[in-house]
Amino acid sequence: MKFPRHLLSIGDLSRESATALLDTAAELARISDGQIKKLPTLRGRTVVNLFFEDSTRTRISFETAAKRLSADVINFVAKGSSVSKGESLKDTALTLQAMGADAVIIRHHASGAPQRLADAGWIAGPVINAGDGTHEHPTQALLDAFTIRHHLAKDRGTLDGLEIAIVGDILHSRVARSNIFLLSMLGAKVTVIAPATLLPVGIESWPCSISYDLDDSIEKFDAIMALRIQRERMEQAFFPSEREYSRHYGLNGDRLSRLKSGAILLHPGPMNRGVEIDAKSADSVRSVIVDQVTNGVFVRMAVLYLLLSGSPANLAEEVKG
Ligand code: CP
Repeated sequence: MKFPRHLLSIGDLSRESATALLDTAAELARISDGQIKKLPTLRGRTVVNLFFEDSTRTRISFETAAKRLSADVINFVAKGSSVSKGESLKDTALTLQAMGADAVIIRHHASGAPQRLADAGWIAGPVINAGDGTHEHPTQALLDAFTIRHHLAKDRGTLDGLEIAIVGDILHSRVARSNIFLLSMLGAKVTVIAPATLLPVGIESWPCSISYDLDDSIEKFDAIMALRIQRERMEQAFFPSEREYSRHYGLNGDRLSRLKSGAILLHPGPMNRGVEIDAKSADSVRSVIVDQVTNGVFVRMAVLYLLLSGSPANLAEEVKG
């Protein structure tokens, strides 16, 4: 089994390596449930969180994941750093490398910034994409797949045949792009549901179906993922009003009552409560939004473990030892 050197997009993974990564995360979740909370795997290694954009979940869960594997963590936040004085990505990276970074986790507003960091060779170790512009957010998709598998396909381990809807601002969503490619690779049937103005050009060639009407088919889905309306990336009006958007595409009590038995609701966070999802839906028994956050730690532990220290076979040895 070959794992990529970097994790920049879902395209870096095969079905086999993505499944092995989810299996490793499941094993780490099982271990974390018991006596052993911390593994010595990455002792002496330094992981850098390099964040040029705001984050709560991703940054904190990567930090928690690295610490549970005994790594040292440097948190670099662009606001308040020498980036404000004009320092380039290259010089920032070279500075962190000089301080001994063994892996860099990067979030950047520019699509392609993690690829540039990996290709330029400014960083010696693995580069992990924690979200770049509107391009990709691979670890979010992996934690979403892990959560769906845990709730709906624990016994069989694949997502074969599951009907999954991704609803809302597909155009600006790196989460949607990574999920469409990962969930379909794992066997799910993905449908994107959005107004035409919030669909990217060329989506017809992506591995998903397209719908403009949530009510048309809501009963058929096993999982529905609501996406945040990304106002900060919108320079024009994409829909008449939030109220109108919510009426057509928001998850609410009425739609909740029409879900298939056992269906689950996901949201990558942060949520605009009352816009893409109302409080009744977000806090309902169908919601697995808090589980997504918990699972993010296990998935990111698996990513760090596999990229920095080799194959899943080593994990069993680690626990035995
Ligand atoms: N889902 C996600 O990426 O959340 P944060 O922006 O809080 O990291």
